[in-house]
Amino acid sequence: MSGDRRFQGRRAVVTGGASGIGFAVATRFVSEGAQVAAWDIGPSTLADARSRIGDSLTSIHVDITDPAGVHAAMEQTLSALGGVDILVASAGITGPNTTTWEYPVDAWRRVIDVNLNGLFYCNRAVVPTMLEGGYGRIINVASIAGKEGNPNASAYSASKAAVIGLTKSLGKELAKNNITVNCVTPAAVRTPIFDQMSQTHIDFMLSKIPIGRFGTVEEVTALICWLASEECSFTTGGVFDISGGRATY
Ligand SMILES: NC(=O)c1ccc[n+]([C@@H]2O[C@H](COP(=O)([O-])OP(=O)(O)OC[C@H]3O[C@@H](n4cnc5c(N)ncnc54)[C@H](O)[C@@H]3O)[C@@H](O)[C@H]2O)c1
Repeated sequence: MSGDRRFQGRRAVVTGGASGIGFAVATRFVSEGAQVAAWDIGPSTLADARSRIGDSLTSIHVDITDPAGVHAAMEQTLSALGGVDILVASAGITGPNTTTWEYPVDAWRRVIDVNLNGLFYCNRAVVPTMLEGGYGRIINVASIAGKEGNPNASAYSASKAAVIGLTKSLGKELAKNNITVNCVTPAAVRTPIFDQMSQTHIDFMLSKIPIGRFGTVEEVTALICWLASEECSFTTGGVFDISGGRATY
């Protein structure tokens, strides 16, 4: 189905759905007919998201780094929605901006735990119900940093490169099951995640974008929505640029 109600009857999980890109995706999914479960660690932002989006949004509090918590979130989602057709894995953190040799080990572990391990737990949690339903769309939010490697962001860049690898593997594993798995690699988009980065790093990211501005959550959402739609039926294991010209490969 295309047009305004292209997600009518679809059930979606959006991790990181309380803020930034995840919130924009959840909002558009609901406006186009989907029921959405927003999985997020921030209880106050989750409550706020629900009050802004309404009853079609189920808010589920979960730390995606906890596999048992992700399992419980999946159970809650299945009770609320009855199944899952779409996963958008958007939850993520940046970690500090410093050189690799000065990178605090605990911060490194946390970035890998959220951006890679947590995303893996969420991907694996939704696949069985998608296999049962004979349909699925998975979109992992990686980053241009995973393709290029940003200086002073090695944990983040490494975690996002790993998300690209996981997406390619899972895409091939599910290729015959009507379940597509793709990732997007945005350049910088102004969201609350900017609060986690140094101004020098933000300026560096902007300087690398030929179009000369940050992306918007609406632009990233538009791409994710196509990847989440029925129309995206012959594309899997793909890595989708949305970087204002920064990456041309
Ligand atoms: N904004 C950018 O410039 C940009 C660029 C490229 C990629 N990305 C990626 O896009 C995704 C979304 O980022 P955003 O800009 O919307 O940031 P954001 O900070 O606005 O949203 C991220 C959300 O993830 C949630 N989250 C963090 N850790 C979690 C955990 N352990 N369990 C559950 N939820 C958790 C946060 O509470 C937050 O609501 C991230 O994966 C980020 O790396 C962002």
